[in-house]
Amino acid sequence: MTVRNFIDTQDFTKDEILDIVHLGFTLKQCVEVGYFPPLLQGRTLGMIFEQSSTRTRVSFETAMSQLGGHAQYLAPGQIQLGGHESLEDTARVLSRLVDVIMARVARHDTIVGLAKYATVPVLNGMSDYNHPTQEIGDLITMVENLPTGKRLEDCKVVFVGDATQVCASLMMITTKMGMKFVQFGPEAFQLRQQMQDIGRANCVVSGGSMLVTDDAHKALEGADFIYTDVWYGDYEAELGEAERLEAFMPKYQVNTDLMAMAAPGAKFMHCLPASRGEEVTDEVLDSCNSVAFDEAGNRLTAQRALLAYFLRPEVANPIKVEAIKAELTTLLAGIL
Ligand code: CP
Repeated sequence: MTVRNFIDTQDFTKDEILDIVHLGFTLKQCVEVGYFPPLLQGRTLGMIFEQSSTRTRVSFETAMSQLGGHAQYLAPGQIQLGGHESLEDTARVLSRLVDVIMARVARHDTIVGLAKYATVPVLNGMSDYNHPTQEIGDLITMVENLPTGKRLEDCKVVFVGDATQVCASLMMITTKMGMKFVQFGPEAFQLRQQMQDIGRANCVVSGGSMLVTDDAHKALEGADFIYTDVWYGDYEAELGEAERLEAFMPKYQVNTDLMAMAAPGAKFMHCLPASRGEEVTDEVLDSCNSVAFDEAGNRLTAQRALLAYFLRPEVANPIKVEAIKAELTTLLAGIL
């Protein structure tokens, strides 16, 4: 049987992504009423981290234990990878010792290489190219916070600032969903042409739209979701702190003035961690329109869904997803 990996949301159709999102909602409902479906009993996740993490690490580990499984944290220096054992051999060995691998890697080639040689599913916990598990949690958060009367496809999502891998991933998932995506950032920090081409191709299929601009009015008018990330994406090595701040301040800081340019009631999102006082002010991050901390909580909602989807291949079939949802809903009804 072919093993599917979760390296890039571009490898999945809109319907498949929505299946994962709906599975996330079903499992969230179960957990919220104290029912922990043991879908992953006896299964083990190996979590390779080349970089530090709070949300990704903790949400994956919690998701495994809530669904009856177990996770192993494999930090730099704790396994032979990066020492004298190759990526290929590490992938082959871990495939015999765990049921699924999640990796946060410095270079995207590493996650692609792991997936090439592993015989168990490999999930991308962030690379220098993208952050797809973040995007499942973000989509779940947007669904939970849809403006009254709007569908996802009606919403405008504006990413403010630097073209980080989170910006790229948000662009890929929103354009795939048929939403209106905008990156509002300085010209030198905008999504590269190759990346924009991916988004525009998505829009042809989905009916969504995409704009990359440094024009505040065009970008922010009618925005339903304002999203930002730290200001040291691709350019971290090239720019000192003073140059970074000069490139983005004050125009691209998400503050109350910037939020006032969006639609009334627009929600603020951030993948976190945030550099308070730089890309976002305390006033916005801590405001009642900020959903950034619920978004962090939805990393767990997303990881439960992703782990169930990839470790229980039978739920990957949309019809079976419906069957499992029905089964869980019945169980839920018995508890409520
Ligand atoms: N947003 C995110 O991936 O957070 P961590 O780096 O803490 O995992």
